[in-house]
Amino acid sequence: MKNTEFKDLVLFITGPTYIRPEIRQAGTYCEFGHRDKVAKVKVESILKNLRKLAGVNEDYEVCLVCGSGSFAMEASIRSLVKDNENILNVSVGAFGDLYHKMTASNKKNVDLLKFKPGKAIDLNKLEEQLKSKKYDVVTFTHNETSTGVTNDMVKVCKLIQKYGAMPLVDGVSIFGGVKIPFDEAKPSVYITSTQKCLGLPAGFGIMFVHKDALEKAKSVESRGYVTDLVSIVASGQKSQTVTTPNCTLINQMMEQLEYIVEEEGIDNRFKRHEDMQKMVADWVENSLSDDFKFFSQEGYRSPVVSAIEIPKYVDRMAIKESLREKGYLFDPGYGKLNKSLEENGENLNIRVGHMGDITPEMLSKYLEELESEFKKYKP
Ligand SMILES: Cc1ncc(COP(=O)(O)O)c(C=O)c1O
Repeated sequence: MKNTEFKDLVLFITGPTYIRPEIRQAGTYCEFGHRDKVAKVKVESILKNLRKLAGVNEDYEVCLVCGSGSFAMEASIRSLVKDNENILNVSVGAFGDLYHKMTASNKKNVDLLKFKPGKAIDLNKLEEQLKSKKYDVVTFTHNETSTGVTNDMVKVCKLIQKYGAMPLVDGVSIFGGVKIPFDEAKPSVYITSTQKCLGLPAGFGIMFVHKDALEKAKSVESRGYVTDLVSIVASGQKSQTVTTPNCTLINQMMEQLEYIVEEEGIDNRFKRHEDMQKMVADWVENSLSDDFKFFSQEGYRSPVVSAIEIPKYVDRMAIKESLREKGYLFDPGYGKLNKSLEENGENLNIRVGHMGDITPEMLSKYLEELESEFKKYKP
């Protein structure tokens, strides 16, 4: 099949996500030399607006990493964990497990504290673990994309810091959708990427690095070359990247961040995501039958992705194809999680990504279509 023969779909998955026409258009702007003065102006604008969106002060360095969120996560492990130190990975799902895989494959002294899928981090259990051993670094996921759970970042960071450890936070799927509490939580490193709530194609990891973390990185050996936080930050300070960046994405990112900060407005963007979570909650609770419920723990439901448990009589893969015909890309749930739920005879999940530039109007139409799909199936 030729590229032009693929249908133009609105993506309701959890990243990559829907890209506004203006940003698709920005993908056609002229390429530029990444060490030329033009690059400096563009990246400077991007970093300035990322700072505004994050609301960080001068305690934090902001930098772009060529690659994606995973690349930045691995850089944080390589650059901030010494060989004789202990690190704890706290996981509430697939992406907490991903941080663990990276830590283990880099041969660090690591423990894993895992919570049941759908649950948030239990602070009492975390505290027990932190009392049991001296940890130097602790990682956790701010927004667990596989289960639609958002952890209480402030409480978790404060607890980790109480025991003298550095919190490294994976905020890949939530940054740009809600206010990140940098001031209160003071994470050592906060990581995100372009293809989720920022409404851009994939291609950069984004790192917010606290000055204390940067100081520590200087004393860590074997940080690698492209994963070296010290040179990543040094490049960021010059409005550059360590290696050749995706210049097309820089063009798109510059436009998109200008739009978020100057046109849509940061608070409006956060409010829109909050409203969309409420719309989905209202839909699950009041429009769907009792056979459908949230998979994620009440009080910790994500403002940017909803995981919904569906009854066994609904064929989610048939729905995916039916919605494709109607111009949507439906999310039939996180694959590995559904596989394990299936093996245990439990109900499976679907997900609705309501992140980035999806609007309440788009979401409303989509939920209507989805509901009519569900109605095709009877208990
Ligand atoms: C919470 C979370 N962490 C990490 C990742 C990995 O990020 P990337 O795909 O940008 O490498 C993802 C991707 O879906 C994610 O949702």
